[in-house]
Amino acid sequence: LSWDLEAIDTPALIADADIVEQNLARMQAAADAAGLHMWPHTKTHKLPFLAERQMALGAEGITVSKLGEAEVMRDAGFTRILLHYPPLGEAKARRLAALVARGAEMRVALDSTEAADTVARAADMAGGSIDILVEIDPGMHRVGRQPGPEVLDLARYVAERPGLRFLGLTSYAGHISAAPDEAGKEGVLQHEIDVLGAERERLERAGLPPAVVSVGGTHHGARMDRLRNATDVRPGTYVYNDRNILAGDSCRPEDLAAAVLVTVVSRNASWAVVDGGSKAFSFDTSPLGGYGLVPGQPELSLDRMNEEHGVLVWPEGAAGPRVGERLRIVPNHICATVNLHDRVFFHRGGLVERVLPVAGRGRMQ
Ligand SMILES: Cc1ncc(COP(=O)(O)O)c(C=O)c1O
Repeated sequence: LSWDLEAIDTPALIADADIVEQNLARMQAAADAAGLHMWPHTKTHKLPFLAERQMALGAEGITVSKLGEAEVMRDAGFTRILLHYPPLGEAKARRLAALVARGAEMRVALDSTEAADTVARAADMAGGSIDILVEIDPGMHRVGRQPGPEVLDLARYVAERPGLRFLGLTSYAGHISAAPDEAGKEGVLQHEIDVLGAERERLERAGLPPAVVSVGGTHHGARMDRLRNATDVRPGTYVYNDRNILAGDSCRPEDLAAAVLVTVVSRNASWAVVDGGSKAFSFDTSPLGGYGLVPGQPELSLDRMNEEHGVLVWPEGAAGPRVGERLRIVPNHICATVNLHDRVFFHRGGLVERVLPVAGRGRMQ
């Protein structure tokens, strides 16, 4: 299969295969150099093809958000899967049990006794055991036990529950992306590392030393040498990168691998309309304003979106695009954008070499 990238219809999600390969190799090399195990988060690409590449490069396992994504990856042959989302309820227990029965060596991150009970029920149904990472809130105020004795309480609960194995700790400091500068990012990382260190010591004193301490993210991955106290790292967005990773100084412009290819369908004196709107780009905001970046044409800003219309604006004096012109627009947030597309076109040197269905697309349950 090979055809000119310029011939494919728009809007289309495209990815530069050379840049993807460089991004994959660079992050794995950085993890190796820092002595950290890679558990890349596959919610970004949702593609068994790229998960396979990540494993071949040296990842120890893969991370997913939802059981539906884990099922897609198990179907594709993967066994070492970290479910980084608390499972609750009987339906989830049944599906988790089915994954274990089908040979998946599941790890589950959770922060409540209720979620631990769901996993224990799954282990019981499957007749196996499941590794647990107790999640700590490093200041993001999303999922995670608050640092302090309640972390140890949950670790004990897990360790004593038949079918569960207490494996260690995990955290996700996603608020690092909102830190305005490098000093702010440094502060977020330092706090997370300090919190994890303190909880690790508390667990060691109690006779429950964590074998694994997992931390997350592409911003973390770009600062791998800072991750003292960690054993595992879970970057996801790094595969493609996006405008917000660039804004956070965690990749270079030449590391932006993916874009939405669009066509200009209308223009006026100071704005133009492209054929991709909120059904082609995620509505995630950016500290830079707007919804996307046109590489090589920084004067263009994707300013507004309706469902099928994206409105590009430019400052007075700039030329703006002409009707019929095709543009690549890098979204603020590639993970949520990928989830909007049926397939991704991988290209190399201007030729499409592979079209892959986004297998985990929409698997939000
Ligand atoms: C729990 C968890 N770990 C890891 C990641 C990967 O982070 P990033 O997308 O910055 O690479 C995410 C992203 O949302 C996450 O929620």
